[in-house]
Amino acid sequence: MADGTDFVFRPIVPHRPPELLRLLPYLWNSWRDPLTVYTERHYAEPYIYVRGKIGVVMNLADPAGLRRVLVDNAKNYEKGDFSRRILGPLVADGVFMTEDEVWRRQRRILAPLFTPAKLSTLAQAMQAVCDQRIAAWPVEKGASSVVEIDPEMTKITFEIISDTMFSNLLGGEAGDFEKAFDGFVETTGRLDPFDILAVPLWVPRLTKLGGGGRYAAFFERRVNQMVAERRALIAGGSAPQDLLTALLGARDSEGGGALSDREVCANVLTFILAGHETTARALGWTLHLLARTPWYQEKVRAEALAQDLTDPGWQSKMPWSRAVFDEAMRLFPPAPTTLRFAREEDELCGRPIPPGSLIGISPFIIHRHKLLWDDPEAFRPERFLPGEREKIDRFAYIPFGQGPRICIGATFAIQEALIALGSLMRAFEFQPAELAEPMPTHRITLRAKDGIRLKVVSRA
Ligand code: HEM
Repeated sequence: MADGTDFVFRPIVPHRPPELLRLLPYLWNSWRDPLTVYTERHYAEPYIYVRGKIGVVMNLADPAGLRRVLVDNAKNYEKGDFSRRILGPLVADGVFMTEDEVWRRQRRILAPLFTPAKLSTLAQAMQAVCDQRIAAWPVEKGASSVVEIDPEMTKITFEIISDTMFSNLLGGEAGDFEKAFDGFVETTGRLDPFDILAVPLWVPRLTKLGGGGRYAAFFERRVNQMVAERRALIAGGSAPQDLLTALLGARDSEGGGALSDREVCANVLTFILAGHETTARALGWTLHLLARTPWYQEKVRAEALAQDLTDPGWQSKMPWSRAVFDEAMRLFPPAPTTLRFAREEDELCGRPIPPGSLIGISPFIIHRHKLLWDDPEAFRPERFLPGEREKIDRFAYIPFGQGPRICIGATFAIQEALIALGSLMRAFEFQPAELAEPMPTHRITLRAKDGIRLKVVSRA
């Protein structure tokens, strides 16, 4: 058909080896890009179970197994030292990484800040940031330009977090944080073979001699400064009511005391990083997919033109926009893998799980799994339209995780993403700028290897 609706877009993916890799190529590929470790079998079998030199490693895609790890027996599966070694210098004491009672207390303290009612009060601020950022885009009225999409998405989501959670304390610093985070993911944030092999921590990691510590030091310095400044404002009675003030004044409703300074700083950084990087990457991939499928782009634009994006209840009136965003996160989940370690013996899919076993839960695999999806590689937002969405297994689509550790910011992220997407669609048309497609790569989040460049045409 002329509108392209009989054309199905299947974005490119890294090469998938047919068979499981041997130890050395496995270690090398894990460092280079964990996506290249996954074989054709990962996308076709309910799980891949390997008992080798590093104990049991199980990559799980089976919904019943996922339910057991993430919900029914979640207390037996911890995030573990491995993830702490990658993210540890930044956020070890925050709600993302802590466990048991320490985690529960932090989650209880933070939860009231993320209720739907609270979040709907942030819509105006989100819209204002989008309008401001879009006005500054390097595209003349009535003309077009090729734009590097990722940094622009980062600026939008960073400014939204800064504005809504930290009273714009970090306004204008998106570039500094982006540079430091990019440096961090290329050094400390990569999977060192010694970490996979559980070599003791005193043995130097050759892959991490590139100075990852200096990026962690940048974050620590900036966050400590924010906290000290805010304490002074609280003492003077003139502090704004935002996440930072809430963290500093928090008292656990179940009797626990205030958060320690380390906990406050770790959570501030957790929310700065977790709160902007993932949504920015999701938006970048969404625009890439829409640039290749103008007929879906038109549907999202039509909805955006018909709605005030800050009106309560507007999201339910934009089924295509929501479906496009959800389908983009299916194909390109911003958090492509999460890990769990068994504390005690268990059984998953009939296989023994000794203590210490590593369970890999990869939305990147699960969302493209042949047993769970029809034509999994195709970009087909219709799957998420009302009437179809209800047929999707709760454990086949987990961009925000599941169970008690599910993303606390999921509703925040969807709300800001739809406001940003709608605002962008009103202002611009997006077209591919080059024949080659961006290649996904796993660097803590799911990034485009050489960035995403699009031709952006002004609608004005
Ligand atoms: C599209 C955007 C986002 C995606 C795909 C995403 C994904 C995730 C995932 C998969 C987890 C669970 C990790 C695990 O089980 O190991 C998680 C946890 C978390 N996310 Fe998000 N996230 C997004 C946006 C946000 C935003 C906007 C915020 C804050 C404003 C946020 C804050 C957090 C926090 C604090 C946790 C830890 C929760 C806990 O362990 O109790 N995220 N996120």
